[in-house]
Amino acid sequence: MAITGLFLCLFLVGHLLGNLQLILKTGEEGRRAFNEYAYFMSHNIVIKVMSYATYLSILFHAIDGIMLAVQNKKARPVAYAYSKPGANSSSASRNMAVLGSAIFIFIAIHMSNFWWKMKYSSDPMPLHKITKVVDQESYDPATGVPVKYDVTYTFALTTTGNYVAVAAKNSMNNEEEVFVKVKEGVHIYDIRTDIEIGEGYKDLHSLTVAFFGQDRTKEGVPANKYAGLAVALYALAMLVLSFHLWHGFASAFQSLGMNHPRYTPAIRTFGKVFSVIVPLLFAIIPILLFINK
Ligand code: HEM
Repeated sequence: MAITGLFLCLFLVGHLLGNLQLILKTGEEGRRAFNEYAYFMSHNIVIKVMSYATYLSILFHAIDGIMLAVQNKKARPVAYAYSKPGANSSSASRNMAVLGSAIFIFIAIHMSNFWWKMKYSSDPMPLHKITKVVDQESYDPATGVPVKYDVTYTFALTTTGNYVAVAAKNSMNNEEEVFVKVKEGVHIYDIRTDIEIGEGYKDLHSLTVAFFGQDRTKEGVPANKYAGLAVALYALAMLVLSFHLWHGFASAFQSLGMNHPRYTPAIRTFGKVFSVIVPLLFAIIPILLFINK
């Protein structure tokens, strides 16, 4: 439990650093950075192995934790006649299984919100696209009078860093011309030659921003009607995570037999700082996405 717990703490740091890009960088730069990061995370072989180690650690940590709690209960089927647990243990340490189960439920819901949609949903994810409006001028062939109109081009960002034109819409007759077709959600093909032009990024950024946001994103992803509830539940889950880590972090070192008069107080202090700062930063992300609309 200690080893998987500490490995999951490392995962939390990595996941937090990636997610902070959602609030540290704004506009197209932020969107690009986050989508490039998500692509890297799902394509780099070392990260892929780490991801599977994370899923297995979550399962092992949860199952072993429940078994331990059941064993503890069985060891003392009759409650103490006089019990004042607060005298020598924190309430977090006595409720680790309940806190852990709540976090497990959070992770299951959370992965279905993002990870499942990104990897397995039958609804293809939107591609990372931008639009550009170009002013045009022409002449009416009948009268020779100059006419102004604009063309809205849609470009998709490919994983080689190029923006390829996907479609153009003419404001004069509102006709849309489509240049490419997209296969398997990401592979972009030239519509005339059927030659692949490149692979597009999935727009996980817009999905995440829309999930916690109150307004439709610039890219047209509809806002989540229940964004307020989602933000509140995420913040609550981070409070639970904080309590779990408050006891769990230092306890893992204790379980591994690392008990030293000089280092243990430092580990305890670090664990407490970690258990406050990491969940707090995680919670700030959905709150800011909600407030910033
Ligand atoms: C509250 C802020 C959070 C946000 C905005 C967020 C966002 C995301 C997003 C967009 C993904 C899918 C893309 C990816 O794999 O990187 C994801 C995956 C995941 N998240 Fe979170 N997350 C948050 C907090 C957490 C917390 C606190 C935990 C654990 C307790 C967690 C556990 C996971 C796991 C296990 C995955 C799958 C990772 C993988 O495939 O390797 N997330 N999250």
